[in-house]
Amino acid sequence: MSIFKKNKKSGGNYLSGKEVRAIAKENAKVMKELEAYKNRKCDESEYLTEMQGEDNILEIDNLHSYFFTEQGVVKAVNGVSFDIPKNKTVGIVGESGCGKSVTSMSVMRLLQGPTGQIVSGEIRFHAKEKIFDIAKMPMRDIHKIRGSEIAMIFQEPMTSLNPIFTIGEQLDEVTFINKKGARKDEAKAKSIEMLNLVGIAMPERVYGAYPHELSGGMRQRVMIAMALASDPRLIIADEPTTALDVTIQAQILDLLRDLKDKIDGSIMLITHDLGIIAEMADYVVVMYAGRVIEKGTVEEIFHNPLHPYTIGLQKSKPTVDSSNEELYNIPGNVPNPVNMPNHCYFKERCAMCKEKCAGDYPDMIQVSPTHFVSCHLYEEGQNNG
Ligand SMILES: Nc1ncnc2c1ncn2[C@@H]1O[C@H](COP(=O)(O)OP(=O)(O)OP(=O)(O)O)[C@@H](O)[C@H]1O
Ligand code: SF4
Ligand SMILES: [Mg+2]
Repeated sequence: MSIFKKNKKSGGNYLSGKEVRAIAKENAKVMKELEAYKNRKCDESEYLTEMQGEDNILEIDNLHSYFFTEQGVVKAVNGVSFDIPKNKTVGIVGESGCGKSVTSMSVMRLLQGPTGQIVSGEIRFHAKEKIFDIAKMPMRDIHKIRGSEIAMIFQEPMTSLNPIFTIGEQLDEVTFINKKGARKDEAKAKSIEMLNLVGIAMPERVYGAYPHELSGGMRQRVMIAMALASDPRLIIADEPTTALDVTIQAQILDLLRDLKDKIDGSIMLITHDLGIIAEMADYVVVMYAGRVIEKGTVEEIFHNPLHPYTIGLQKSKPTVDSSNEELYNIPGNVPNPVNMPNHCYFKERCAMCKEKCAGDYPDMIQVSPTHFVSCHLYEEGQNNG
């Protein structure tokens, strides 16, 4: 479904009125086509697919998600591919703005149109009974996966909970949506069960409370209960503990880890914090400027990081021993997302850069059955660990 055409880029640092109008015209055309595609009526068979690996619950394959802005096209997710195996936690890590949230919003089909759009690629998801390509699903059919098969936990629960309804009303609603004809007492029993499951001591009291009456940690537990009420196969947690203090953070992470086994599902865990990844994840995906630059098992990424950016990230992680030292900071900035170069996006910040790095963007190289890196240093089997 690649119906996107490249915008003409401005040669200078600012856009002329003519260039702005040309961008707006091109954007309007592409956005109209993509919106029509999203809102089409079609037979389910059009977006049924097959998984490439039988152990995977989710396979993101060459995903491109863009924002069509007045300044040009922001390629927030620019050819991302990775798998989430069944019953595993996959950690997504990378600097602010690298495309972690846009990747997860694409899976949930929550990108705000007409500006934000999935432009091409596949998102294969193994639902309970069928396998869907979520990227091709029309919006009218998204209820088949969103909230029911895939649930999302956000950073700030207060923005996701409705302040004018009680916790019980909001939890019951999930059951009513997912189980047609469910009775009120059935929905309440399920809600109380979920509140118990997430370790809330007095579930009946919390059931009748309003969001503002709860602490931040309790609200995040409620959000997790809400995510679980539909028995999802995949939970996407985007910085689920960033707004919480360290003790509560540890409790919520323990809870998520326990629940993954209880619900027999998988977790896509997005975080800035490498400590959380080390503790929680089975696999790690490292993103940089809208692309995956390295991926592997948690042991591979922590004990044998290969990409200069991953090595820099490890060095910039605070440790107990480094408390008196100044923290390492990867020098330089991410390139302008509207005008990405054709060569490696990390080149301007890379201390290991060689002549070839000014050439084509490096291919993804496989260095073990599970470890992949996109960097010219590892081509033709050189230096692979
Ligand atoms: N609505 C939008 N309009 C234009 N650009 C956007 C929009 N939302 C996100 N972007 C751009 O997409 C890119 C990826 O953003 P994203 O939110 O996925 O980053 P992130 O990795 O989740 O960062 P953080 O760690 O800060 O949450 C950024 O360059 C951002 O500026
Ligand atoms: S491809 Fe070159 S510039 Fe890019 S990370 Fe590897 S060594 Fe550095
Ligand atoms: Mg984010």
